[in-house]
Parts: sequence; C-alpha cells; structure tokens
Amino acid sequence: MERVFSDQLGDWKRSCYCGEPRSDSVGRELVLMGWAQRRRDHGGLIFVDLRDRTGIIQVVFNPEINQPAHERAKQIRAEDVLAVRGRLTPRPAETLNPNLATGEVELQVHDVRLLNASEPPPFPIEDESEASENTRFKYRYLDMRRPQSLGPLHLRYRMTKRIRDYLDSKGFMEVETPMLTKSTPEGARDYLVPSRVYPGKFYALPQSPQLFKQILMVGGVDRYFQIVRCFRDEDLRADRQPEFTQLDIEMSFIQRQDLVEIIEGMIYLLFQELKGIELNKPFKVLTWRQAMSQYGTDKPDLRFGLELKDFSSTFQESQFRVFSSALERKGVVKGISISGADLSRKELDDMTPFVGNYGAKGLAWVRITESEWQSPIAKFLSDQERQEILRITAAGAGDLIFFVADEEKIVNEALGNLRLHLGERLGLIREGDYAIAWVIEFPLFEYSPEEKRYQSVNHPFTAPMEEDLPLLDTEPLKVRAKAYDLVLNGTEIGGGSIRIHQRALQHKIFEQLGISQSEAEAKFGFFLEALGFGAPPHGGIAFGIDRLAMILSGRTSIREVIAFPKSQRAVCLLTDAPAPVDPKQLKELGIKLVLD
Ligand code: AMO
Ligand code: AMP
Repeated sequence: MERVFSDQLGDWKRSCYCGEPRSDSVGRELVLMGWAQRRRDHGGLIFVDLRDRTGIIQVVFNPEINQPAHERAKQIRAEDVLAVRGRLTPRPAETLNPNLATGEVELQVHDVRLLNASEPPPFPIEDESEASENTRFKYRYLDMRRPQSLGPLHLRYRMTKRIRDYLDSKGFMEVETPMLTKSTPEGARDYLVPSRVYPGKFYALPQSPQLFKQILMVGGVDRYFQIVRCFRDEDLRADRQPEFTQLDIEMSFIQRQDLVEIIEGMIYLLFQELKGIELNKPFKVLTWRQAMSQYGTDKPDLRFGLELKDFSSTFQESQFRVFSSALERKGVVKGISISGADLSRKELDDMTPFVGNYGAKGLAWVRITESEWQSPIAKFLSDQERQEILRITAAGAGDLIFFVADEEKIVNEALGNLRLHLGERLGLIREGDYAIAWVIEFPLFEYSPEEKRYQSVNHPFTAPMEEDLPLLDTEPLKVRAKAYDLVLNGTEIGGGSIRIHQRALQHKIFEQLGISQSEAEAKFGFFLEALGFGAPPHGGIAFGIDRLAMILSGRTSIREVIAFPKSQRAVCLLTDAPAPVDPKQLKELGIKLVLD
C-alpha cells in the first residue's frame, strides 16, 4: 500500500514542540510535528509516541473521533515523520506517565499527515541503544535523535556560548586565523594540502594557531581568543581526534598569575552554570617534579590518594639484587601501598603483565599480616629495610605494598598506571567528583635518543624560567619552562606558557634544539621578523574543548561530544572519508601516486 498519504505541510503550522504541552493547555487544539517513536494498537485505539528534540508526547488515534485518521495511523512505522492536529486532553488517571514530562496529557488526533516515510532504522532509537559505536556514527543522524546523544552536543554549545560571553566581558576579542598555512610545531604530523597554483608546494593545516596568536600580540590585539579547529595526524585514543577544537587564548603584558585568574574564573563559571558545582578557588598547584614523583605522571588524577613512595634510599644495599642493581644503574625503586584491599592471588599475579605493558620488568609485592610479611621477596628483606618500608608507608596489618625497580621513567609510568588501575579497582573514584589542578614548571627540554638531540617538551616558543637561564648552556635538561597545564580528573584539558618575546633568546632556543639559523629562517622567518618589531611580553593557553565538554557531560570519549567524529582509525564513518580522488584532480595538482 502507498504509505505517503499527505506529504505536504500545506497551511499547517507547528504550535509547539512535542515535549512542551502540559495540563494547563488541556482543551487547546495543537498541531505537533515529529518522528514516530513507536506505535501501539490497543483494541480500537492506536497510540503513537511522537518525538522531537525536546521530548515525547503520546498522540491517540480514536476511530470514533476520526475514522480516516485512525485508518492511516495503522500504517505508521518507526521514524516516519508525522504532523498531527488534535485536541489536548488529560490522560485518564490510570495511564498517567510520571517518567514523561508530558505524561499527564495526550493529543486526541483528528487529522494526520505523513510528511515522510522512513526506512526501518538499523537500530531502534531508544534510550539504551545496543548499536555498536561504528553503527551509531555511520547513522549519526539517527543516533542524535536520542537525547543521550544530542545532550552532549547541546551542553557543548552552551559551554562555548558561555566561554565567549565570559571572555568578551574580560576584554578579549575573537580573531580567526588561517586554516591553509605553514606547519606549526606541536609535535604531531601535519595534514598537508597540495597547492594547484604552485605545483609541488603544500599548505599545512594548523596543529594550533600558536604562531598567529603570538603575532596578534605583536599587532597589539592584547587579548585574543578563538574557538578553532586544529589538525594533528597522530595515533588516536579516546581523548584524541585528528581534528579537534581548541579554545585558544593569548594575552599581552602578563605573568602566569594574571592568566591563571582569568582561567580559574572561567572554569569556575562553567562548572557552576553547567553542573551546579562550586569548585574551590584558587585551584591546587603542583610542580611537574611533584606530580611525577607523587603520581608518576604530569596529569595526575587527584580524585584519590595512593601516592607513589620512593624507596630508593631504603634499598641501596639490598640483598634483593633486582632492587640494588637497579639503583646502581641510577634507577629508582618506588612503590604504592594500599590499605585493607582484598585482592586475590590471581589479581596480584595479573598485575605483573599489567605493569609490563609500561616496560616494567616485574612487580614485587608485600602483604603485611598480623604475624608475617607474605611476599615473593620476603626472604631478602632485612629488618632495617622492613622498618624503613613501614616508616615510609605508615603501613600496618592488612596492607599491601607494590614495588617497581627500574629507570625512573619506566617506574613512574608503570606505577602511575597501576595507581589508576587500583583506584578504579578499589572503587576510590566517586562519580560526580572533580579534582582540578595546575601543573607548572615543566622541563623546557627533553632528550630524544632516536633523534639524538634535545626537543621542546612544550613547543619551542615557551620561555625558560629566569632563574634557570644560567643552566641553558651547561645543563639544559635542568632548565624549567614557564609552562603550565590544567588537569581535570587525570585529563590534560589545557596547556600553555609564557612565551619568549625577544628574538635573541628565541634564536638561542632554536640553536639548542639543533635547528640551524637557515632552517629557522626558512620555517619561522616571518615569526622571528615579527619578534624584532616590538613584541610585547605575552603568554597564553589552549584548552581542548572536546575534552572539557566530554568531562562536563560525564562521557568517556570525546567522540560523544563531536557531531561527526572520526573513528579510532581516522575514518569519517558517515562519509567514508578519506577516499580516492579523480586522477584528473591529481594531475592538476601535479601529484603522481607511488603506492605498492
Ligand atoms: P597543546 O598541544 O597542549 O597546546 O594543546 C592544547 C590542548 O588541546 C587538547 N588536544 C587535543 N584534544 C583532542 N584531540 C587531540 N588530538 C588533541 N591534542 C591536543 C588538549 C590540550 O591540552 N599551542 C599550544 C597551546 C599554547 O601554548 O597556548 C597547544 O596547542 O586538551
Ligand atoms: P624473580 O627473582 O625474578 O622471580 O623476582 C622476584 C619478584 O620480584 C617477583 O615478584 C618479580 O615480579 C619481582 N621483580 C622482578 N623484577 C622486578 C623489578 N624490576 N621491579 C620490581 N619487582 C621486580
């Protein structure tokens, strides 16, 4: 049977959204439009749940009110697009639905139009969808008909709206910067765009607007922000996308504290208005050193304790050669102690391969009971070592202590991740908890053994701390940067720095990074030149808007707060991009593919 019975709106005008009618409108005639969530045939009556962005209302087709409309209603299927005209009535007492905002009323339909018939959807549009993530994102337009999926997008919109209003009130202006530009060094691979006009030449999509925002400061813009798309070709994870959005900020004539106050005000406001939560201000501040030593990571989850303890001085002379020899090689022995955890032997054993994922060669543990120390390494532990362990951990009967010995980087990574694992396993993370902190004083450089040279931990435009300037030539790895990250629940939501604003120092840093004068000129000549024309002292920060929206909407993947995200394998599931192109296009660009 032909299902389209009247596919035109004609002179029908929507009275309100489906989620809006309440008892006080009973008796009114309404025109409602939306999608059929489901149809139920009950004896003579047909009920349809009509849905739009705001919610659901029950509409009733009664053969005694309108026989033709009732006949048509028999053909309605899930996701058909309907317009209904009818009178709003109270629901009979026994059919009130307290789970629905419109649950006290229903619409008695006397006319219906099927504006568009739907194919059967590949998954039901329901609260709890069983559909796989790939299916959901392939049919994102169906997925986002569910409030669970649209909600995070709406929250994200309210967040960016609020951010714009706040920054406007603080004298910032939004300035757009180019998408077709030169490479910016943020540490990832670039996405390149070939130029047709200049065959063989390429634009790079920005990894961030870093250089442009600094140049805006040279231009006297003073307070800049931009909500801007950035592109990075890197390995993807739950909190990384190849294209993502930054809230990018830069300010002139400031020190870190000036920026901190503006940012804390903004984050405070977002939590207050979007979550009804009052964060404590000022936010906690950790130095990078403290974060690494206590949590093994520069983005510590501070919602729970389980700090790492350093036992290096305890085991210098240890009989347990694994420990003492690691220390002889300038490594460390660190550990975590937990109270009263009932971890089974199997769970304990499974933790060795877990830390192995982070390069640890083993995981030693000690379980302290009333009578003894149970441990594969108990026989090696002297009385003095035992006393030291108890002093450092304040552990007692019922406690469990883990140890890893290795070079510091591996120990921190292994124990930092074990700490997160234990935090979850022991239920130490309470839902609805938020712990926010600044991590400051990052090292300026790190050494890359692969490239055999120093690299910027942040980016090369970050200023060194003045008190460390004398170390720049002698002990570059000890130089701390005027850099800061903001960390929320173990996620880096933002990072920035005070910048180098003097050309000579910028040259010097490039030199330290092994970037020759001519290379610096070729890559950043325009920027170095700008620094020479009166660059003011300046600094800034950039936030991951997707990450912030993810946390504020209680999700665990940034894909949930992006309308059309890429898959883990960087594919747009909706359009199937990336895709081959017409050979004619390649020819125009002067590109020959060499694929094997
Ligand atoms: P950074 O590289 O730390 O700094 O980036 C700033 C913030 O952007 C977010 N972010 C990402 N989010 C999703 N997917 C990604 N692939 C991704 N990469 C980064 C993070 C991060 O904290 N120009 C500097 C900022 C500055 O110095 O002002 C920069 O881009 O939340
Ligand atoms: P083994 O003598 O190799 O059997 O190790 C004894 C215990 O020490 C086992 O529980 C190992 O997991 C642990 N162990 C081995 N290497 C390390 C290491 N680098 N750090 C901490 N514990 C280790």
